[in-house]
Amino acid sequence: MTPNAFDLDSWSDQWLGRVEQALSDWIHPQAPAGLGQAMRYAVLDGGKRLRPLLVWAARQAVAGESGDAALDEAALRAACAVELIHAYSLVHDDMPCMDNDVLRRGKPTVHVQFGQAQALLAGDALQALAFELLTPDASVIDDHVQARLCRLLASAAGHAGMAGGQAIDLASVGMRLNEDQLRHMHRLKTGALLEASVMMGAACGSPSAETLAALQGYGQAIGLAFQVVDDILDVTADSNVLGKTAGKDAANDKPTYVSLLGLAPAREYAQTLLDQALASLNKSSLTHTQALTAIAQRVVNRNT
Ligand code: IPE
Ligand code: IPE
Ligand code: MG
Ligand code: MG
Ligand code: MG
Repeated sequence: MTPNAFDLDSWSDQWLGRVEQALSDWIHPQAPAGLGQAMRYAVLDGGKRLRPLLVWAARQAVAGESGDAALDEAALRAACAVELIHAYSLVHDDMPCMDNDVLRRGKPTVHVQFGQAQALLAGDALQALAFELLTPDASVIDDHVQARLCRLLASAAGHAGMAGGQAIDLASVGMRLNEDQLRHMHRLKTGALLEASVMMGAACGSPSAETLAALQGYGQAIGLAFQVVDDILDVTADSNVLGKTAGKDAANDKPTYVSLLGLAPAREYAQTLLDQALASLNKSSLTHTQALTAIAQRVVNRNT
């Protein structure tokens, strides 16, 4: 490594330490009848925490040299909130009525461990908790920032985002989608929350409309790239490395970028999306973009 190269892991360490601590503090184990245990099991000790990293990288990019404790606090809450929505989406995605998976983040899935009803409720409660975190009582965070963060997360999680994409996913089992349809599904089910992570980080600052549009382009490109790579890893990676069962897309007869394009063109497409993300970032006129650049490279070149 050259002396000035950006080291994503050391950059991440401190922030993820704060995120882990905050998540553990905010998900109360004393929620009734074992619900707290199921919620903590779903969220803590696992996952790449990509969405919290994107929130902080975008926050840093728009903040530049200027610090602001209230906006840093908003970013921490946003990072935790988007991770809670993501974790809830995984709990429900794994249930027998959806993908029927038994392994997640190297552990039995929540419904295997706690039963289906508890898994359903844990997902519901995590979703509600996400919005509670974004709207703290007696907060130093401006009301309009809180409202903007809620709006961004709600629209990315709902019918026009993750939940809508999951509905398309389930309705597409056994079907051959064309490229436009597949792209649309992936943008909604996965891309929307990743894009929202970038936009929530940006909302913890005051970027110009041009900068915001460039960050959105970056978020859209890596959001789609992330699911393209997820489709690839489902075919090429090992369950032990992934921490979830590989080969499930073909087993469940899901349309994916690999089934549509084949492995090598899917890989090329992910690289094209990386180029698009970095080109968009270049147009942002931001200077503190090393973390966003490194995250985009990792999204496409990861093996887990
Ligand atoms: C898995 O997401 C589900 C998709 C949206 C493809 P991640 O690969 O980010 O899962 P964790 O958080 O690292 O477990
Ligand atoms: C899930 O996509 C996207 C979500 C909204 C959870 P997948 O079904 O491909 O995710 P994995 O492969 O189970 O993590
Ligand atoms: Mg799924
Ligand atoms: Mg799945
Ligand atoms: Mg998958």
